[in-house]
Amino acid sequence: MAAITLRKIVKTYDNGFTAVKGIDLHIHDHEFMVLVGPSGCGKTTSLRMIAGLEDVSEGDLMIGERRVNDVEPKDRDIAMVFQSYALYPHMTVRDNMAFGLKLRKLPRLEIEHRVDDATRMLGLKDHLEKRPKQLSGGQRQRVALGRAIVRNPQVFLFDEPLSNLDAKLRAEMRYELKTLQQRLRTTMVYVTHDQIEAMTLGDRITVMSHGEIQQVAPPMTVYEFPYNRFVAEFIGSPKINVIPGSLVQADGRWQFRLPSGDAVALSMREQHAFAAHAGKSVALGIRPEHFLVAPNATSVPVQMKVSVVELMGDHQYVYLTLPSHDGVLTMKCGPHFRCAPGDTVTVHWDTAPAHVFASTDEHAQTITLPQGFARQL
Ligand SMILES: Nc1ncnc2c1ncn2[C@@H]1O[C@H](COP(=O)(O)OP(=O)(O)O)[C@@H](O)[C@H]1O
Ligand SMILES: [Mg+2]
Repeated sequence: MAAITLRKIVKTYDNGFTAVKGIDLHIHDHEFMVLVGPSGCGKTTSLRMIAGLEDVSEGDLMIGERRVNDVEPKDRDIAMVFQSYALYPHMTVRDNMAFGLKLRKLPRLEIEHRVDDATRMLGLKDHLEKRPKQLSGGQRQRVALGRAIVRNPQVFLFDEPLSNLDAKLRAEMRYELKTLQQRLRTTMVYVTHDQIEAMTLGDRITVMSHGEIQQVAPPMTVYEFPYNRFVAEFIGSPKINVIPGSLVQADGRWQFRLPSGDAVALSMREQHAFAAHAGKSVALGIRPEHFLVAPNATSVPVQMKVSVVELMGDHQYVYLTLPSHDGVLTMKCGPHFRCAPGDTVTVHWDTAPAHVFASTDEHAQTITLPQGFARQL
């Protein structure tokens, strides 16, 4: 059993700064949990507390059935992989992987077995006698992974392990990490600021901001039902469009009044949520793929002006502006929709999957979530 439970965990550093503000989180046995959020939100601090590299100021930290607040890192049965590989430069790949096991005085044959297994898993067979400086960045990171795997821990902790790699290698290593987890079925906690890594790797994602948890849910739930504006904007690339406005009722239907005064009929299922916010300043969140070039059953046509077009081959991003709204809005559509900067085009807003946020604040809560929807799933 290697579930991890954080109960009201607080971290206040010696200088008085509170980096983690009483978080509650349960990570299941065998789960791949990703902690994601912008730089400085407390991800590394949280991970280092789990590892035992940082004292917990308040709260209970459990690994399995055991409260580990006061357990030494070496006695927690975890292995950690960092952004910097921290390999021993003078040792071969084989010795780098075996070193920790030798320190623990494991039998020689057992060490050989484990290094063999990890080597095969990571495709390092041809590199065992090389030294780190003879390897590429991706290979070095694989050795660092191997060093963690041979320990056969209850829990793996990763802190931005792919940040130093280029985009192509990152994609490859994402695939390998996912494969690895499917094979090892060890509990993994993975810290990243990259929402794509979070979406692709996590069984669940924990979105953090300013030392607090914003939402915990499987990736697609976070994407489709962001708990607040912060989560909506952090997850998804290109970013969700957020447009300030107000809720008005006309002919018994709720509409969103744009800065220009035009109104867009809202077709979300959660119509009951709107009355409490009538007339107040709110924001509409609509993802780039919900700006359509052709109408559907729930869309509303809106005239928008094209500012920039980015063709990506299989799709394109069209950057658009609205009268009386400062920001640029993004549409994602097929590559064959023809338009040019300066054109006025009709964009069909599909509001059924869109969201309304309770105010224009950065952390404003989503009011269009299904009834009974919980912040942590
Ligand atoms: N040793 C420390 N002393 C004081 N403040 C720290 C210390 N380490 C980190 N912090 C602060 O705590 C906050 C969270 O840091 P960190 O957990 O490293 O964030 P993240 O990993 O999400 O980027 C940041 O504001 C950081 O400056
Ligand atoms: Mg960090």
